[in-house]
Amino acid sequence: MASTDSSDFSVSSVSSASARSFLFVLGSSRPDGNTEALARAAAENLPADSTQRWVDLAKLPLPDFQDGRHETGEWPVSDSEALLQEATMAATDVVLASPLYWYSLSAQTKRYLDYWSGWLGAPGLDFKEHMAGRTLWAVSVMSADDEAVADGMVTTLNNTAAYMGMRFGGVLFGNGSRPGQVQNDLRALERAETFFRGAAPLARFPRESVGAAR
Ligand SMILES: Cc1cc2nc3c(=O)[nH]c(=O)nc-3n(C[C@H](O)[C@H](O)[C@H](O)COP(=O)(O)O)c2cc1C
Repeated sequence: MASTDSSDFSVSSVSSASARSFLFVLGSSRPDGNTEALARAAAENLPADSTQRWVDLAKLPLPDFQDGRHETGEWPVSDSEALLQEATMAATDVVLASPLYWYSLSAQTKRYLDYWSGWLGAPGLDFKEHMAGRTLWAVSVMSADDEAVADGMVTTLNNTAAYMGMRFGGVLFGNGSRPGQVQNDLRALERAETFFRGAAPLARFPRESVGAAR
């Protein structure tokens, strides 16, 4: 069984050079929602020697990202940003647990990814080089029955991973609206048992291009 660290503020240890450390980033607008429940079900089946750490974006609020990439001067880094940056860079595997909101990521999750753009240009961080080869996963619950309506979220995450030179393990989808309803989605719970054992190939843009300049 993987060791668990559910604190928002503590640091997980990595037990060996090959062990994996999973960072679960909760992005719902309510506590104890369906997406977290499905993510926790999947986390019960992590590789044996891996560690897990959970952060809840609702408890680590980030202001809207200010794009200062092309300006000089230093930006103040809030405690929440510093913690999320450290946790992200410590993880071999980043799992975005975002409900489907308007056919895409929740605003909280999207804002966290916007901060990645700031970290890309932070002096001395080498964020992109550091994250390359690591793996992006996602878990998402929606009220719609047809997962195809979430193809925009899948495309967003695949292309994000491709830009970052990361692997992409895909999205574990579940169905539910009221909190707890995802427990009725037996297909999702079954897929949760093997989700993190699935293939996570290096992500590629649709036409294998290198990606546009930003
Ligand atoms: C702002 C908002 C937008 C939503 N957009 C969608 C949507 O586009 N498609 C959908 O199927 N469900 C949508 N839902 C329903 C949620 O995905 C669903 O209730 C899900 O269970 C919420 O996850 P949570 O329990 O982890 O918070 C939306 C809910 C909210 C609050």
